[in-house]
Amino acid sequence: METSEKKKRIFSGIQPSGELTLGSYMGAIKNWAAMQDEYDCLYCIVDMHAITVRQNPADLRRRTIAQLAQYIACGLDPEKNILFIQSHVPQHAELSWVLGCYTQFGELSRMTQFKQKSQQHADNITAGLFTYPVLMAADILLYQADAVPVGEDQKQHVELCRDIAQRFNGVYGDVFTLPESFIPKLGARVMSLGNPMNKMSKSDPEGCVYLLDKPEDIRRKFKRAVTDSETAVRFDPEHKPGVSNLLTIYCAATGKDIAEAEAEFAGQGYGVFKPAVADAVVELARPIREETERLLADKGYLESVYRQGAQRAQSLAVRTLSKVYRKLDFVVPK
Ligand code: TRP
Repeated sequence: METSEKKKRIFSGIQPSGELTLGSYMGAIKNWAAMQDEYDCLYCIVDMHAITVRQNPADLRRRTIAQLAQYIACGLDPEKNILFIQSHVPQHAELSWVLGCYTQFGELSRMTQFKQKSQQHADNITAGLFTYPVLMAADILLYQADAVPVGEDQKQHVELCRDIAQRFNGVYGDVFTLPESFIPKLGARVMSLGNPMNKMSKSDPEGCVYLLDKPEDIRRKFKRAVTDSETAVRFDPEHKPGVSNLLTIYCAATGKDIAEAEAEFAGQGYGVFKPAVADAVVELARPIREETERLLADKGYLESVYRQGAQRAQSLAVRTLSKVYRKLDFVVPK
């Protein structure tokens, strides 16, 4: 019977290194919510990854809790999914150490994100920044995840995770499930409003809309969004990256498709189009912001969610880690 079939397991995470953006909602969290019935999902707040570059401690703490509240406000049900904070489950760090011993220096040196981040943080290129993908592999393999929904920029890390898992399995037998990365079909790739050639990023406050932005901030940011010198609202990412990005956002916010949206704005200029996109985003963000504020006022509830999430995650994580230690034939303390 279909109901007795084991659901596939999904793992994904976002770093609390900045406020959540419209891009993280449209590109990731919205899809996570859409998958929560069909899959067995773990959604993590990867605070240990965030400290691979310098963080202000008080901000990190505040954003970690706020991110949990936003996960829930975006529709992730804490009963259906395991929502948890990475540092609450020490097996991530433990498995990461083991996997690091099965990862080549050369492999890590080739990671595009490492090369970029070590340029951006040239005065602080830490071992943690270098071994970041190993910790990410541990996140995924600890839970024997089948699939990892990620953006294009994380695909290389998931491939490396597979390579590490395959190598380990090659020596010790079937220990880890090999995960597939998948770029969700539904996922909208949202670009910066200021520079539509770049992905919307939490480190670029003006080109970026935060989920918790107030309506007036959202409207101001869309008003300043870069377009082009034509007037036609037409989807053409190559020649009209700004307008195409606004169309993508409009469609993701309203559920309309591109053709419908183009027809809706035919013959109208950007002076009509841009405020309409802003309005759609304001209406999308409003209930999320209100629900987040309500949840943040209820610290006891949020604590119970992360405590329960950590317990559920840990009960899965210990199984994998003890299997790994058994394979390595570590002496088990009596
Ligand atoms: N590296 C991911 C990012 O920056 C976040 C992340 C950490 C992650 N561990 C993960 C994503 C495991 C998927 C699975 O976007």
